[in-house]
Amino acid sequence: MKPARFLFVCLGNICRSPLAEGVLRELAARRGLASLITVDSAGTGAWHIGDPPDLRSIEVARRHGIDISALRGRKVGKPDFEAFDLILGMDGENVRTLRQLAPTGLEGRIGLFLRYASGRDQDVPDPYYDGPEAFERLYQMLEAGCSSLLERLEERAS
Ligand code: 4NP
Repeated sequence: MKPARFLFVCLGNICRSPLAEGVLRELAARRGLASLITVDSAGTGAWHIGDPPDLRSIEVARRHGIDISALRGRKVGKPDFEAFDLILGMDGENVRTLRQLAPTGLEGRIGLFLRYASGRDQDVPDPYYDGPEAFERLYQMLEAGCSSLLERLEERAS
């Protein structure tokens, strides 16, 4: 089976989506499931193109044994809708922006991360203006979501 190609999308591509990218890649590797997926991340905004992740995301990832410091921000673009099978927004606003950008016929690739991952119709809230404790909550949310997502893929692959 070809790997499922995931693109995680948030607003800035410095807090939520690069952390989600690092978590999914690492959980897949730890569980011997790396061949099931490829993963990347992008933002709907252009403010942080070329920037490393927010230090608070780098730090919370590091505390959980994951290095996301080499990732760099980029903006989602039309070619991404061909290049990825699943384009998952972290919140409803991200999903709405993705729907406006999607080429005709490829809107079906868009989803809300937690709904796709675990069937919960819930946003991953933007932690940008919050304190460091919000980043641990963010990490836990993303780890639970990525874990469910991998279980889903594993079931499908077996
Ligand atoms: P993210 O968080 O969407 O999780 O990367 C944000 C980062 C930066 C900004 C907004 C949200 N910003 O306005 O620069």
